[in-house]
Amino acid sequence: MPPVPDARFLGKHIVLGVSGSIAAYKAVELLRALVRGGADVSVVMTKSATRFVSPLTFEVLSGHPVATDLFAAHQDMLHLTLPERADLIVIAPATANVLAKCALGLADDLLSTMVLTSTCPLILAPAMDGGMWDHPAVKAHTAALRERGTLVLDPEDGPLASGRTGRGRLPDENVILSTIEAHLSPCRDWVGQRVLVSAGPTHEAIDPVRFISNRSSGKMGYAMAQAARERGAEVMLVSGPTALPTPVGVEFIQVLTAEDMGKALTSRLSWATVVIMAAAVADFRPTRQSPEKLKKTGTAWKRLELEQTDDILELLSRRRTSQILVGFAAETQAVESHAKEKLRRKGLDLVVGNNVAAEGSGFGSDTNAAVLVDREGRVTRLDLMPKRALADRILDAVQALGTPAKRAAPPYPFGKM
Ligand code: CTP
Repeated sequence: MPPVPDARFLGKHIVLGVSGSIAAYKAVELLRALVRGGADVSVVMTKSATRFVSPLTFEVLSGHPVATDLFAAHQDMLHLTLPERADLIVIAPATANVLAKCALGLADDLLSTMVLTSTCPLILAPAMDGGMWDHPAVKAHTAALRERGTLVLDPEDGPLASGRTGRGRLPDENVILSTIEAHLSPCRDWVGQRVLVSAGPTHEAIDPVRFISNRSSGKMGYAMAQAARERGAEVMLVSGPTALPTPVGVEFIQVLTAEDMGKALTSRLSWATVVIMAAAVADFRPTRQSPEKLKKTGTAWKRLELEQTDDILELLSRRRTSQILVGFAAETQAVESHAKEKLRRKGLDLVVGNNVAAEGSGFGSDTNAAVLVDREGRVTRLDLMPKRALADRILDAVQALGTPAKRAAPPYPFGKM
């Protein structure tokens, strides 16, 4: 069956630089994924890369001649014309040598010369063996590149071609693809913001096997984290138990109980410029947790004594300095008036009210309808739409309030993934 095109890179011209690492074979799969996504890809290989994979492989799969030699390419001025046309350059794998050349501005072959003449975003996906990644020289070059705004992904930990284990594997293909996608995205209006998102339910233990929780799937919170990240923000996601994959490029903090979530969020409040509280925090927990499994015989189940958990949002509201606070109001009736009441009571900037009992809305579904109520009294009613689209509308509504002062941010999260 022919592969289904996914169109996420449609209309984009990407230069794929391949340097001399054994991971060069993985660049073949990366090229295929980019082409499947609709990208027009030109491949530039270093001399050493051609010893690992034949240029013919890339030529056939990209549908373009592969450029390897600065002097042969000179006739067509490829070191100027390729980057001029490019929307983005990704070097995968990037060896320690290529990293150093990019950091120092050396230009002794086509790939490094092209990097110097380019003005488009540059992503480096390093791969190196033998502990090179931890060498002070490589660290210094990486830091210099990141300082300058070049996106240097962290290599992955695991078994290396040499048989050793350590950090040095080419980042996962999906991480590279999502990073490329995020940087081609036309709307990067959240760059400089630091967004703290909570998502999912909490579990409040009754005994070692039973707990109190709710029906939250975490989908809305994860969509918020992903949207903010794709629009350029740095994002920390504090999540209760869910079955969802962590959005790429987001720092992830797993929690279980309302108490854990409260601690995780309050300790990170000063980092954030915006807090989005999409979690369905349990309002009550058992007063006592039994250390042993409760037997169904006996009196333990006749009456389960509960105590109220802290309202995290109220706590954050009292402690905040300049952060914008967004809350959710999960309702089954009178959504708008409850949303307004929660906005006032908790001292919030924006509340997203939604009817969790309505068809296609609320827990577990991929879509949601909502009413946005902001501190200026604006009310926006939004019809059913995918949660990811709703996330964008919520971010727009936060912007309409005037986002807090942007802080100078290092090119994180690429440095921290
Ligand atoms: N929330 C919180 N801490 C809690 C309970 C809720 O921070 N212990 C937050 C939720 O994450 C949400 C907002 O408060 O952003 C509203 O939550 P919701 O469950 O709709 O309302 P409650 O405040 O719990 O009030 P009620 O259950 O009476 O509707």
